[in-house]
Amino acid sequence: MTKSLSLIIPTYNESGNISPLVKQIHLAISDYKYEILFVDDASTDGTVERIEELGKDYPVRAIVRRDERGLASAVVKGFQNAGGDILVVMDADLQHPPAVIEQLLAAIEQGADIAVASRYVPGGGCAEWSGLRKLISRGAIFLAWLFLPQARRVKDPMSGFFALKNSVVEQVSLDPIGYKILLEVLVMGRYREVAEVPFQFQLRELGESKLNFSQEYEYLRHIVRLASRSGEAARFLKFCLVGASGVVVNFGLYLLLTRFAGFTPISDTSSGILSGNIALTISIETSIITNFILNNFFTFSDRNTGGAGGFLRRLLRFNLICVLGGLIQIGVANLLAVVLGIADLAAVLIGIIVAFFWNYLLNNSLTWRR
Ligand code: GDD
Ligand code: MN
Repeated sequence: MTKSLSLIIPTYNESGNISPLVKQIHLAISDYKYEILFVDDASTDGTVERIEELGKDYPVRAIVRRDERGLASAVVKGFQNAGGDILVVMDADLQHPPAVIEQLLAAIEQGADIAVASRYVPGGGCAEWSGLRKLISRGAIFLAWLFLPQARRVKDPMSGFFALKNSVVEQVSLDPIGYKILLEVLVMGRYREVAEVPFQFQLRELGESKLNFSQEYEYLRHIVRLASRSGEAARFLKFCLVGASGVVVNFGLYLLLTRFAGFTPISDTSSGILSGNIALTISIETSIITNFILNNFFTFSDRNTGGAGGFLRRLLRFNLICVLGGLIQIGVANLLAVVLGIADLAAVLIGIIVAFFWNYLLNNSLTWRR
């Protein structure tokens, strides 16, 4: 392979790990033309001195930031200073085994634009993580999947170990908060194919993790910011607006049919319950169709593909998902009001909210699939 590699490794107080890391990397990829860029945030334990010593024997250098801190933004700094065609991002603490780099590069050679070393594909895992940390990790991934459709392309969007073609980030403005640089790349980067390679996240033997609970908060901020920068927040808002218009259509049409078009109100059972419920069904179905049309040409105008056939297929899918959403709403409301004894208006409201999320998420990922 003739392509050149830049390895980007953020460091903060990792002096004990630098030398074994560089040696292991060199063994793993000595066939390649490579450079290692450490981006250090003014470590106080001699990390930079260790890097500079190693620079005498290996293609290694340190970029030191004094005005800024943070793992993800350090990696962005590395992207800006990297000269390689392919960039590899990894941690300095040997939790990311250098032997996996070759497999990442192989995936890129086979056509992937981004190759992620993943804990959550078969063959991957974490050495001895506490139940709590596993749960937090899974919850964090779930949140990302929920709000950022691009994150759904991988099982482990939180991994800090990945390779990518330089073109993925070259002319992209990256502005991450906190730890999750891969998430930023997945949402903002320019790419088509993503591959995942399994790896075992090792135990840290030297030094300590810089992860703490304030990072969980930073992570939430990062998700919100990505959702708004990538247009997903605006999409959600549009879906809400369309939903509100559907309520008007549903309610208005029912009013029209029962007050001016001869249908009897559902409360008037003197001549049976059929007439009123037909009016209600017509109103509901009409609002589903108007919602569909508005979502198709407004909320998801960027994914409105496939001509008339695509349009009809989506209409059917949207209908089915919304009807199931209605059943979910009824189920949740009954569960809360009847089984748990919560006030009925609160129960209905919560039911509406749950069904709304159901409708948004399923239609987002199934009806208007990217
Ligand atoms: N420049 C810089 N600035 N580097 C930092 C900073 C910082 O503020 N904080 C941490 N680092 C460096 C560390 O020195 C290490 O090389 C790497 O970033 C990872 O830091 P750890 O503190 O060891 O992170 P972790 O092991 O808890 O988390 C890792 O695994 C997570 C998956 O569970 C990271 O790879 C995360 O990105 C990943 O999500
Ligand atoms: Mn670590």
